[in-house]
Formats: sequence, C-alpha cells, structure tokens
Amino acid sequence: MKTARISIAGLGNVGRRLLELMQIKRAILRERFDMELKIVAACDQSGGAEYFGGLDSAKIIALKREKKGIAAYSQHGRAEMRPRDLVMTAEADIFVDLTPVNLKDGEPGLTATREALKRKMNVVTANKGPLVLAYSELATLAQANRVQLLHSATVTGGLPTLNIGTRDLGVAEIEKFEGVVNSTTNYILTRMAEGQTLDQALKHAQEIGHAEADPSLDVDGWDAANKLVIIANAVLRRPTTLKDVSVEGIRGITQDDIQHAVEHRQVIKLVAAAERHGHDYSLSVRPTRLDLVHPLASVDAGMMGVIYHTDINGTILAMIQEHDPYPTAAAVLRDIVEISSQK
Ligand SMILES: NC(=O)c1ccc[n+]([C@@H]2O[C@H](COP(=O)([O-])OP(=O)(O)OC[C@H]3O[C@@H](n4cnc5c(N)ncnc54)[C@H](OP(=O)(O)O)[C@@H]3O)[C@@H](O)[C@H]2O)c1
Repeated sequence: MKTARISIAGLGNVGRRLLELMQIKRAILRERFDMELKIVAACDQSGGAEYFGGLDSAKIIALKREKKGIAAYSQHGRAEMRPRDLVMTAEADIFVDLTPVNLKDGEPGLTATREALKRKMNVVTANKGPLVLAYSELATLAQANRVQLLHSATVTGGLPTLNIGTRDLGVAEIEKFEGVVNSTTNYILTRMAEGQTLDQALKHAQEIGHAEADPSLDVDGWDAANKLVIIANAVLRRPTTLKDVSVEGIRGITQDDIQHAVEHRQVIKLVAAAERHGHDYSLSVRPTRLDLVHPLASVDAGMMGVIYHTDINGTILAMIQEHDPYPTAAAVLRDIVEISSQK
C-alpha cells in the first residue's frame, strides 16, 4: 500500500470538504489505487498542527465546526505556524494550497508554493492568485525540481476544463475556446433574464452567498480573466498575464440590453474566449449575445460550461452544475490521487 503524506494550508469551505472526502473515499482509494492519504500537517489563520504519524481529519473537522482554529489541536497544535512554515518543516509528498486568492502579492500561497517546489514537494492548489501572478516561474520551478504542480480546481471548480485541455486535447490545436466560467455573473445574468435589474440580482446573489460583499472581482470580469490566464498558460501553452486579456464586465448591462437580446432569441452571458490567429491567440472576457441554440446559452445559474473547438478532436462541450464546494474539493482530491498514483 502506497502512503501519500499531505500538508494542507487552508481549512475553509474547500479544505474541510477535502478532509471529509478523504474520509468518505478511504475504502475506494485503497481498492482502486492501493493508496492511503495521511495528513502530516495543516494550517489556518490560527496557526497549524504537525504530526508525522498523521493528524486525525475528524478531529480537525470538529475543531473547525466548533469555530476553533487548528492551533487548538491537542498536543500537536502550534499558534505560530504559517503556510510557509508548514512547507519548511513538514516532510510531505504533496503541499495543498487552499488559502484565499490574493491578487496583489499572491500571499500567503505564493511563497509557500514556491518553497514547496524548491523543496521538491509536489503542489496541488485551488488558489488562482499565485498562478495568475507567477505561472511561468512556478511551472519552471516545478519542472526544474522534477515535481508536479496540479491546479485543476483553480478553473471552473469541479469541471475538468484544464484536464480536458491538457490531457485529452494534448495533441490537438485549439482553434477556439469559449467559456462561461464565473458562476456569480452567470447567476446575475440569469436572474436579469427573468426580469430583475442588475442591482436587484446582485443584492439577491449577495444575500444567498453567491456573491461577495465586494463583488467587483466577479462583476467587472476579473475572476473570469484570471481563469482565462490560467487556461492560456496551461492549455494553450501561451505565457500569459492579465495584461494580455481584454476585459469588460457586466456592470453596464441593462434590462433593455437583456430584452433586446430576448427579442432576437438570444441570451447575454459573460464569455471568456481565446481565438487563434496564426500562431497566437486573442484573449477576451466580455458580455456576449449568444443565440439560444448556442450550447453555452443553456448554461444557467449554478452552472459553468466550456467549449473547445479543435483541429483533430472535434468540438468538445463540458458543463457542470455546482451548488456547493464538494466538486471543487473533489477536483483537489483527484489531483492528489493523480500525483500519488505515479510514485
Ligand atoms: N469555494 C469554492 O467553491 C472554490 C472554487 C474554486 C476555487 N476555490 C479557491 O479555493 C481556495 C479556498 O477557498 P475557500 O472557499 O475554502 O476559502 P475560505 O473558506 O475563505 O477558506 C480559506 C482558508 O484559508 C485560511 N487562511 C486565510 N488566510 C490565511 C493565512 N494568512 N494563513 C493561513 N491560513 C489562512 C482560512 O483560515 P481560517 O479558517 O482560520 O479563517 C481558511 O481556513 C481559494 O483560493 C478559492 O479561490 C474555491
């Protein structure tokens, strides 16, 4: 039986679901992969806990349910432990970054990810920040140190957009990519199509937890642009940063625009697109009128969808309905299993 030693930074919505899935899927991991996952270290804002014999995930989940930090973990909890310390001291095979997105300096995920790769530790991350800010640097570090940096969950949560692009379309040329990749704006536009104004739809989205108190990252198109940057780097193999993407959000969309689209049997979606021109791609995020027969037109609230138009693999459409963070946690688990299967 293989044992993969895991350290996890971030025990929030995704982190806690990941711990649950590791418990629920323990028997399947044994049967199908002859594999056991052992959490040797974890941290949150309170500090961390480290134990090479393996931390008890049920105990961590219970602490978080009681609104206590992991620093309160009996015997092994430590208040001073930060994500970087976790990487420097824990002897793990895989470092998992589930800390929040920070697009100013990428921290705390960026330093921890960088250090993990330098220490020849594989990295699995759901955190877009470090990849958007430093994709090329991190990919080069991973290659130089002969370890893997897997990040399926950074783009469209549980929808395997990156895996389809990098693995299944590995030999193809991608002529065009189109995606509805931001669920908050998709929720708002779906509600607007039902008659609400943008302000009403946004307020409602905030009330039910579909939008942040500061929704600008989503509404102004930057979250979708961040995802497109990662797709461009990983799938299109185009070194890309945010400045390469033309970005327009949905703030200017009015009920009149929506009704005008309806009259023409169309819907408005925030579409992230990459279109090939010769050897390069144009990259954009913008509100786009789609005919009702367009496959992405039916990607409604609670869903995300992507289309790859390719030279030899045909046109591939993939969609997900994702109402909670389990599919994202499942994508993280899948990346962990992929790395651990290769040992
Ligand atoms: N939620 C989703 O469905 C989803 C989908 C795709 C990608 N993602 C990405 O996955 C990551 C995690 O998302 P989430 O929803 O789980 O976030 P979350 O609920 O806010 O959890 C973040 C976790 O990180 C910890 N944390 C924050 N700052 C820290 C610091 N400086 N040092 C150590 N730990 C720190 C928090 O500690 P405390 O518990 O002590 O507050 C918390 O445990 C994010 O990058 C997000 O963008 C999420």
